[in-house]
Amino acid sequence: MPSLLQVSGLHKVFNGQPSVDGISFNMEQGRCVALLGPNGAGKTTTLRMLAGLLNPSRGRILFEGKLIGKDYRKQIGYLPQSPSFYNWMTGEEYLLFASRLSGMGRKEAAGRAEAMLERMGLKDAAKRRIGGYSGGMKQRLGLAQALVHAPRLLLLDEPVSALDPIGRREIMELLREIGRETSVIFSTHVLHDAEEVCDDIIMMNHGVIAEQGSLSSLRAKYNRPVITLRVEQRKEALLWLETLNTRSYIHESRMEGDGSVFLKVEDMEAARSAILREAADRGIPLMRFEAGSLSLEDVFMEAVGV
Ligand SMILES: Nc1ncnc2c1ncn2[C@@H]1O[C@H](COP(=O)(O)OP(=O)(O)OP(=O)(O)O)[C@@H](O)[C@H]1O
Ligand SMILES: [Mg+2]
Repeated sequence: MPSLLQVSGLHKVFNGQPSVDGISFNMEQGRCVALLGPNGAGKTTTLRMLAGLLNPSRGRILFEGKLIGKDYRKQIGYLPQSPSFYNWMTGEEYLLFASRLSGMGRKEAAGRAEAMLERMGLKDAAKRRIGGYSGGMKQRLGLAQALVHAPRLLLLDEPVSALDPIGRREIMELLREIGRETSVIFSTHVLHDAEEVCDDIIMMNHGVIAEQGSLSSLRAKYNRPVITLRVEQRKEALLWLETLNTRSYIHESRMEGDGSVFLKVEDMEAARSAILREAADRGIPLMRFEAGSLSLEDVFMEAVGV
């Protein structure tokens, strides 16, 4: 069985500027993938290419081993970042319209539209005009539209970014449910959203993939012990901090500028006793010694360079 999606060397150039600069990944059926990155990373451009709405400048997208073609649109559901609706339509009319567009007959469309309105908690609002819907209701209608034809792959562009905490919670709950039945890719700039519902993470920045993998493998890969150390702002103490990175038990160090240093270490116990001994031998008082471990948040911050 080929992967659900195989993306290789995907590029999109706008006016000579690359928005997506060569990304490759595979996605297996049934997974929920978070496309995570800051503003301008290239998430929307990537999703629009995956949705078949934008032609790549280079690279290719295979869906179940085949190049995406005409009938691909029936296989996917897409919720844009800022969906626009016909405000004069009712929710029900809009879903019927979306179902008919996807090629369903009148009867099937009516049945599916009703089921989706019910599922998205919009049954009572079905006959009201969309213009009077709240932001959360519009987003649920957008989800209903993306799901109405039972697609094999759901592409959601920042489905919760514009919502208040309650609206956000509602959509996240729905996503968790939908993720059990359908393969989903959704973009977000919030790591926490990705961790809440997804199996896999693709971290993007400046049009390229900075890091990718399953949530658990990324956690394991980056679960490195770290020590934060602060000394008095005295010359010999600061010099000592600066030379710490030459020690074999220290993997990486970063001076923070306020007399503190952030150390990624190989072995917490070895590092702890060595550092405490060195400081004592030199008569350097430690203002702060904190042992912890790197979180995925730190990895994300590092990957996106902020
Ligand atoms: N149609 C377009 N014409 C010209 N440049 C574009 C176009 N679409 C996107 N870009 C540029 O491509 C880059 C990536 O944009 P994109 O919208 O894909 O990022 P994003 O990760 O979705 O950001 P956000 O989090 O703000 O939604 C940006 O620099 C953007 O200005
Ligand atoms: Mg975007």
